[in-house]
Parts: sequence; structure tokens; C-alpha cells
Amino acid sequence: MPLSALVLMLLVCSVQANFYSIVVNYYPLGNVSTGSSTGILYYKLGYSSCLYSLPYSIGGQTLVLDKVDEESRGEWCQTEGVISRLFSSNSIFPIPVSGLNWIFGIKNGIVSFKIQALVELRIRSDIGKANTSPQTTIIPAIRVPSNCPRNLSLLMFDPDGDIVKCRNGDASLSECSPCTPPSVLSLSPSSCTLSFSPTNSSDEGPYAVQLMIEDFPRQNITLTQTNGPQTIITTNDAISKMPVQFVVRVDPAVPSCTEGLFLPMFLPPTPAHRTQLYTYVNQTLAISIKAQTLNSTISELLFSAPHTVTQNQTGPGQFTLRWTPSDSVAEQSHPICFVVQAVLGAAKYHSELRCVIVTVRKALPTPSPNTPEYVAALKMKFSSSMDLSKINTNVFLNQIKQKLQSYGLPDDISLRLISSVPQIGVTVSSNSTT
Ligand SMILES: *[C@@H]1O[C@H](CO)[C@@H](O)[C@H](O)[C@H]1NC(C)=O
Ligand SMILES: *[C@@H]1O[C@H](CO)[C@@H](O)[C@H](O)[C@H]1NC(C)=O
Ligand SMILES: *[C@@H]1O[C@H](CO)[C@@H](O)[C@H](O)[C@H]1NC(C)=O
Ligand SMILES: *[C@@H]1O[C@H](CO)[C@@H](O)[C@H](O)[C@H]1NC(C)=O
Ligand SMILES: *[C@@H]1O[C@H](CO)[C@@H](O)[C@H](O)[C@H]1NC(C)=O
Ligand SMILES: *[C@@H]1O[C@H](CO)[C@@H](O)[C@H](O)[C@H]1NC(C)=O
Ligand SMILES: *[C@@H]1O[C@H](CO)[C@@H](O)[C@H](O)[C@H]1NC(C)=O
Repeated sequence: MPLSALVLMLLVCSVQANFYSIVVNYYPLGNVSTGSSTGILYYKLGYSSCLYSLPYSIGGQTLVLDKVDEESRGEWCQTEGVISRLFSSNSIFPIPVSGLNWIFGIKNGIVSFKIQALVELRIRSDIGKANTSPQTTIIPAIRVPSNCPRNLSLLMFDPDGDIVKCRNGDASLSECSPCTPPSVLSLSPSSCTLSFSPTNSSDEGPYAVQLMIEDFPRQNITLTQTNGPQTIITTNDAISKMPVQFVVRVDPAVPSCTEGLFLPMFLPPTPAHRTQLYTYVNQTLAISIKAQTLNSTISELLFSAPHTVTQNQTGPGQFTLRWTPSDSVAEQSHPICFVVQAVLGAAKYHSELRCVIVTVRKALPTPSPNTPEYVAALKMKFSSSMDLSKINTNVFLNQIKQKLQSYGLPDDISLRLISSVPQIGVTVSSNSTT
């Protein structure tokens, strides 16, 4: 079978930057009926400082890494690169790297960074289009105190509805080298949860986690190459394989493992782990995050998301993440993960990891004359100490919409403000027939 492979060469010019993390996800793109199987690859790269740029080239083309977030004490910087229209129909993409090593002193003995991704872009018999990879993200370093049990549950979802599993990387498949998993973590593949049990101080330090996430079809499918051969993929075969590598730091013991004392505790309205959110192209989604500690000081929100997501601190322990997705991510779902960090002297403490899934709809639906449209007027009263005439209406409406959808309204409802402060009325319309 003809395999067209593309080698992504990361030519790292600065050797001062050290590697922390990588996550790769892809979406198929373009017109499959013309046989032009293309894909858009999103990868997030974490390294030791934003000061060092990592210019690299693919086929002679220099690619840009945009900053996602950096740890304020200069521990790490996460960047996102987006590559599109580079892939041929059926490809395995090795990503060899030179000049980039993991941070110094990794306890499980990993020194040089190595990954392998499998991007599958042949047409699937069950959905009539190319596969989308399973999706996840993670911040470059997660901290756990050595005396506290912790479950680190990675977000994994698949836009095609496939079954997603994770496993440790396999050196025989060149997925890492060596692939030694951290001795202090145990992995549950079906939920991709890494469990940490209290240990002693000799286990403190950074560990490299080198995982692969894979999507499996729910029934046997065939993959068809343009004008070409078919391959059967059974429910035991992974369709695509995506690397997820990051650091887990086992820190000195904390006086108490109870959340809300030294370790930040999330408070409402922070979304629950794995919450599904919706927004539209060009419409701002705001995610409010709140946490508290009694015996340490909350210093910052650390997050991993598309690089166009911005953050603002709105009060002590209060943060807002905002995203206004562009047309390029229409009909895609992207993960956003975050941790709240607190400090006490030189010690840093992390909350649990929380992640949400954001699905981007193409445009606000325009009601068709053939389908019934329902219009409802909703009168709401808001009491606030701030001047409500100064709020961002799009953000505000989006929050109300998400609340209404959580009560079961269809996700094609649109909201419009029809009167102003002091009384705000909202109309809800839908062309849904259900
Ligand atoms: C895809 O390409 C085919 C053949 O050129 C064309 O007929 C079809 O309209 C295109 N579809 C889209 C969505 O562009
Ligand atoms: C981790 O998950 C296991 C299995 O679900 C559960 O028994 C344990 O209590 C959890 N530990 C923590 C610290 O949440
Ligand atoms: C720490 O635990 C390891 C393994 O459980 C053990 O071999 C070692 O002796 C312990 N060290 C101390 C200082 O207790
Ligand atoms: C899926 O394919 C495998 C290998 O060809 C076959 O053994 C199995 O019976 C198939 N399963 C179904 C449900 O068709
Ligand atoms: C945490 O702070 C509370 C309130 O200030 C105090 O009463 C408590 O002793 C502190 N706990 C520790 C372990 O320092
Ligand atoms: C968020 O913070 C940035 C700077 O970090 C600032 O430029 C921007 O105006 C802030 N946005 C809001 C809505 O407060
Ligand atoms: C989103 O905004 C851009 C720039 O203003 C515009 O070109 C595009 O058509 C808009 N897309 C939608 C779906 O509204």
C-alpha cells in the first residue's frame, strides 16, 4: 500500500530551553470528495522559558509558536503551533527532535524528548469523512505534595464518538526513549487517570509522563484511500495515536492535605471537570474560576487552551478565561484545562486539574421559513453592585444561554436583549422542531 509520509523536523536553535510537555491533536480539513485529504494539526509545546523561542521548520517553512500561558515565576512556558494543509492521504508522522532535552533531573531517567504521532486521514466508512483524533490537553507541570493522595484525571474526548483509551508510550514503536513510566504513578487506561499514593521524601522531584491516547471505532470500519485500497479497522485497532507528555513534580510534604488550607479548593461557579460548553464563531465565551486557601496565598491561574484564550484576574482567587473563536475552529471542539496555584514562601501548591470541552458552532442559526420558530420572552432581574450598563452583553448572554441549555433547551437557541437597565428582558428563539 502506498504510504506517503511526511517528516516534521523540529530544528531547535536554542539549546538553553528545556522540554516540559507536548500534546498533539488534529482535525481533518478540506474537501474529501476531491481526494485532497488535508488536516490541521494543533500541538502544544511546553518548555522552560518564554525567552527562548523555538524556531523550527517543516519542509523549509518556518513555523510560528504562539504563547498560551507561562508560569509567573519563570518555571515554564506553553506555546501552540497550528499546521494545516500539509498532509497526504495516509501518513505516519515521526517527529524527530534535535537539541532539546527534558528538564534536568527527571527521576524516571528520561533525558531526550521523543514522540510519535499517527495521523489517519483516509475516509472512514461509518462517517463518510476522515477521522478526527482524540482530544486532550495538559499544563506543562502538575504538582503533588509527597504526603497527599491524588488522582490526576486527564480529559479525553473524541469528536467522532470513538472509544478513547490511553496507555504508556512504547519504546519499540519509537513513541519515547526510554519509556519508563514514573514509579510513583499508576495508570487506569480507560479513564486516563494517574493515581498518586503518599510516598516519602526520597521520591520527591520531577517525573516525565509519556502517554499515548488512541481512538478505537465502536464497530469494524473500513478506511478508503482516494481511488485506492481499503483497510479494515476492527474495534481492537487504534485509528490514530496522539502523544501526551508532561511533568509531574512530587513536592515536599504539605502540613495538611485538606483542600482549602494550603492546597487551593475550587468554589462555585468554577465549572466541574469535563463540563461541555458551547459557543459560536466570533462570540465570546467566558469561564469564571474561583478558588480559596486559608494557609497559603493564591498566586495565579495556570491553563492550557487554544492560544487565543486570554485570562484576567478579577479578584483574590478569582479568574476569568475568555475565548472568541474564529472561523478557523468552526465545528471543532477544543479542551481547556486549568489549575489554580498558591504559594507560601518558595513552596507552590496546585489545586486539582479541571478541564472543560468547548464546542464551537459555525454561526448563530438563521431561522428557515420552513421550520417552526419558537420565540419566548424571558424577564430576568439581576441585582449587582456593578454598573450593569457596562457589562459585555455577548458574554452575559452566552452565560445565560449556557444555563438555559443546561436545563435542556436545544443548543441552537439564540438570545437577544430587548430592553435595558434597570430591567433587562431577553428573548429566546429556536428553529428546533423538538
Ligand atoms: C468538493 O469538490 C467537488 C468536486 O470538485 C465539488 O463538486 C463539491 O462541490 C465540493 N464540495 C465542497 C463542500 O466544496
Ligand atoms: C482516586 O480514585 C480511586 C478510584 O476511583 C478512589 O478509590 C480514591 O479514593 C481516589 N483518591 C482520591 C485522592 O481522590
Ligand atoms: C522511601 O521509600 C522507599 C520505597 O518505598 C524505600 O526504599 C526507602 O527506604 C524509603 N526511604 C526513607 C528515607 O524512608
Ligand atoms: C471485525 O473484524 C474482525 C477481523 O476481520 C472479525 O474477526 C470480526 O468478526 C469482525 N466483527 C464484526 C462485528 O463484524
Ligand atoms: C491555617 O490557618 C488557620 C486560620 O488562619 C489557622 O487557624 C490554622 O492553624 C492554620 N493551619 C496550619 C496547619 O497552619
Ligand atoms: C484582561 O487583562 C488584560 C491584561 O492582562 C487587559 O489588557 C484586558 O483589558 C483585561 N480584560 C478585561 C475584560 O478586563
Ligand atoms: C467572524 O468575524 C470575522 C472578522 O470580523 C468575519 O470575517 C467573519 O465572517 C465572522 N464569521 C462569522 C461566522 O460570523
